Amino acid sequence: MRLDIVSIFPEYFAPLDVSLIGKARERGTLDVRVHQLRDWAHDVHKTVDDTPYGGGPGMVMKPEVWGEAIDAVIAGGSPTTVTEGGPSTTVTGGGSPAAVAGGGLPRLIVPTPSGRPFTQELAQELADEPWLLFACGRYEGIDSRVMAEYGTRLRVDEISIGDYVLAGGEVATLVMVEAIGRLLPGVLGNAHSAVDDSFAPGAMRNLVEGPVFTKPPVWRGHEVPPVLLSGHHGKVARWRRDEALRRTVANRPELAAALDPETLDKHDRRLLEELSFRFQPEDMAN
Ligand code: ADE
Repeated sequence: MRLDIVSIFPEYFAPLDVSLIGKARERGTLDVRVHQLRDWAHDVHKTVDDTPYGGGPGMVMKPEVWGEAIDAVIAGGSPTTVTEGGPSTTVTGGGSPAAVAGGGLPRLIVPTPSGRPFTQELAQELADEPWLLFACGRYEGIDSRVMAEYGTRLRVDEISIGDYVLAGGEVATLVMVEAIGRLLPGVLGNAHSAVDDSFAPGAMRNLVEGPVFTKPPVWRGHEVPPVLLSGHHGKVARWRRDEALRRTVANRPELAAALDPETLDKHDRRLLEELSFRFQPEDMAN
């Protein structure tokens, strides 16, 4: 998969050199290219923002500079090529759309608190794309005409990683790249590691994961639940499901409320009753 990231703070992306994502890049599973937006600004101050029409606080990112940057990335180039010796995460230039399987166009991702929610399902959908281009806004955001313009040529997604406001799209992009990157074939050591994730499709869908334990069996007087040492796979699976249900009710009552009763067995129902959890009639759910 090819990932292009355009930002006024390329330094934010140094973590993409390490761990799973760093290894995926070394192996060539992920081709990450980070670009400095200011490289496409033409004035001496490398200005990327201006005051908002209609007034109000803060600044808005200028459409011209974003347009030139996105056009150049799509064309496979960059105004400056940072070669060896530059920061390893800001290797730009080189490559071409043809370097992407199928030679198509990228899907444009614009992180913003007003976007649609980033979910595991969306992470999986994006992991199936050959090429993503992240446009990291700062200040009050990017002039809306940029999204309108590219919306005529590319798939454009404005995405929020949660109901809080960050200083810019960089950290949101890191979050998305990690969630997407670990879903790429061969990125996780154990091919099944993503299967049991909270929110992964499957039997435990829409339940958060329960607690996990490793050796020693007793630590500072705290014992590992004996069932996990029993070697009885059926009992272990039942215990894990119970714990997932308990945690979902305690920490994510809105997820518990949205569980499809058809997916619950009688043991699940009994546990939920013990937890005094009642499904609301549909018209009372909100
Ligand atoms: N930029 C600022 N806040 C954000 C958020 N919550 N999600 C995505 N991008 C953002």
